Amino acid sequence: MMKHMFEKSLKENLRTVLCDLFNAKINLEEIEFEIPTDPSHGDLCTNIAFRIAGKVKKSPVEVAEKIAERISEDSFEVKSLNGFVNFRFTDKFLFNLSKDTLAFERERLGKRVVVDYSAPNIAKPFGIGHLRSTIIGQAIYNLYQFEGWETVGVNHLGDWGTQYGKLIFQIKRKNKNIKDLSIGDLENLYVEFHKEAKDDPGLEEGARIWFKKLEDGDGEAVSIWESCVKKSIKQFEETYSLLDVEIDYCMGESFYQDKMKMVLEEAKGKEIAKESKGALIVDFGNEMPPAMLLKSDGSTTYFTRDLATVRYRIDRWNPDLFIYEIGADQKLHMRQLFKTVEMLGWKKSEEFFHVAHGMYRLKEGKMSTRKGRTIHLEYVLNEAMRRAEEIMMQSETVKDMTEKQKKEAIKKIAVGAVKYADLKNHYSRDIVFDWEKVMNLRGDSGPYLQYSLLRARSVLNKCKQEPISEESTIKLNSEERAVLKKLIEFDGVIESAVRNFTPSSLAGFAFELAKDFNAFYSSHPILKAPSEIKNQRIFITEATHKVLNKSLDLLGIPIPERM
Ligand code: ARG
Repeated sequence: MMKHMFEKSLKENLRTVLCDLFNAKINLEEIEFEIPTDPSHGDLCTNIAFRIAGKVKKSPVEVAEKIAERISEDSFEVKSLNGFVNFRFTDKFLFNLSKDTLAFERERLGKRVVVDYSAPNIAKPFGIGHLRSTIIGQAIYNLYQFEGWETVGVNHLGDWGTQYGKLIFQIKRKNKNIKDLSIGDLENLYVEFHKEAKDDPGLEEGARIWFKKLEDGDGEAVSIWESCVKKSIKQFEETYSLLDVEIDYCMGESFYQDKMKMVLEEAKGKEIAKESKGALIVDFGNEMPPAMLLKSDGSTTYFTRDLATVRYRIDRWNPDLFIYEIGADQKLHMRQLFKTVEMLGWKKSEEFFHVAHGMYRLKEGKMSTRKGRTIHLEYVLNEAMRRAEEIMMQSETVKDMTEKQKKEAIKKIAVGAVKYADLKNHYSRDIVFDWEKVMNLRGDSGPYLQYSLLRARSVLNKCKQEPISEESTIKLNSEERAVLKKLIEFDGVIESAVRNFTPSSLAGFAFELAKDFNAFYSSHPILKAPSEIKNQRIFITEATHKVLNKSLDLLGIPIPERM
C-alpha cells in the first residue's frame, strides 16, 4: 500500500464530501484505499460507499456515483464503478509521486529494538535453521533501522547447556583428544552419544554429571568446552563473512552464568518460581505447561538463561521492543518466557515478538542433529556456488573478467540466490529447496533481481540524466505507468514489512518492480527514445535502480559487479 501525504488529504476531502452530500459523519480511519488489480479500474480505489450505504439508506452504487461527481481534482480523475470509487492519477501527478518515494530519509523515532538472531550452537556445524534465522533476522534488523529505529543486534550463541555435558562425556569415554577433533567430529560424537544412550540410559547420568562439573567450573570440563567454543567461533566467523552479515554483539548463553542467580532470587521472592519435585519451575496454570528454572540437581536451563538475558537487555538498553528470530519449534518456550517476564513485572508481553520461522525440509521430514540427518549450510552454499558458476559461464561478460572478479561474482550470485529463496517466503512457511527455482534467471529468484538491477545500471552508465523541469510535459505509456505505480508503493511496503516483521513483503515488492521494469525495458527504447521522452525514461530507469538497490540492500542481497 501507498503511504503518502496526498492520501491523507484525499481522505479529508472524501470526509467533507460525504458530510455535505449525505450528512454522514465518518472517521478518517474508516476510509481505506486499495490498489485495483486491473489497472483499467484506476490507480487507487475505495469501498467507502459500501461502508456507509446502509447508514445513509442509499445503494452503494448511488453513493459512489454521487461522490465521483462531486470530487474534482487536477491530479486525478474520479470514476465510480459498481459501488467503488476509483481514482486515476494524471501522468504528471504519478510522476511527481514517484519522485517523493526516492527520498529515503526517515526521521529518527527515538525507539529502540533488540533483535536476537542467528544464535548457532557450538560444536555443531552452522545449520540451515540458523541460516534462516541469520538471513531473516538481519533483514528485519535492517528494515527497522531504515524505518528510524535504533537497532541492537545480538547473537545469543548456544554455548551452554546439558548438550555440552554429553559432548564432554563422550570425548572422555572415547579417549579423544579435543585438539584433534574437527567440528564435524564433534557433531558425530554428539550423534553417537544419542544412539548409544538409547540402549544404555546410564549414559545420560554421566552427561549430566559433566554438565554439572562445567557449571561448577571444573578445570578439565572448562578447558574442553573452551576449546570447542574457539573452534566453532572461528568457523562461524567464516560463515558470517561469506554471508556478509555482521551482528552487533555476540553474547552466548555462557555469558549469563553469573547473572542467573539474581533473577532466580527475584522470581522466588515474587513467588513466581515454585519448587516441584526438587526442581524449580514457573507454573502457568492451565494456560500452558510449566517452565523449568532449575533441574533437581540444581543445574540451570535454557529457559533460565533466556530469562537472565531479558533482564540484562532491559538494564543495558531498555528497549521498546524485543524481536526473537527463532524457529517455530520454540514457540512454547517463547510464550513461557514472555509470560514470565510479564509476571515478574519487567515488561508487557506485547513488547516481545517471536518471529517463528518454519523449517527447511528434507523429503524424510524434519531435520534433527540427534538423528544425524542435517542439511548443512556448507552443502547449500556449495551447491549454490556450483550453479552460480554455470550461470556465469553462459554469460558474455565473463570473457574479460579476471579470475578474482569471477570468483567474487559467483559468490554474490550464490549468496543472493540462497538469501532470496528464503526471504521471498513468509517466515512462518516451510522451505523446500528447489534448485531450478532458486537459480532461475527468468523467474522469482535472487539472480533475476541482481540481473535486473545490473540491466538498469548499465543503461545509466551509458548516459547522464538531465533534470526534468517542472514545466516539462510528461506523457506515460502503460509500461511506464506500471513501473511508477510500483515505485510509489515502496514506503508502504517498508512500513508493513516493519510492522509485520515480514521481509517477505519487501522481497515480493522487489520482484514485482523488477518484472515491471523488465517489461518496460523490453518494449521501449530508453537511450534511443525520441528526445522529448528520453529524459522521462531515464528517470524511470534511475528511480527503479535506486529503489531496487535499496530493497536488495535491506534484504542483505549482494550485487555482483557484472553477471
Ligand atoms: N541456540 C538456540 C538454538 O539453536 C537459539 C537461541 C535463540 N535465542 C534465544 N534467545 N533463545 O535453538
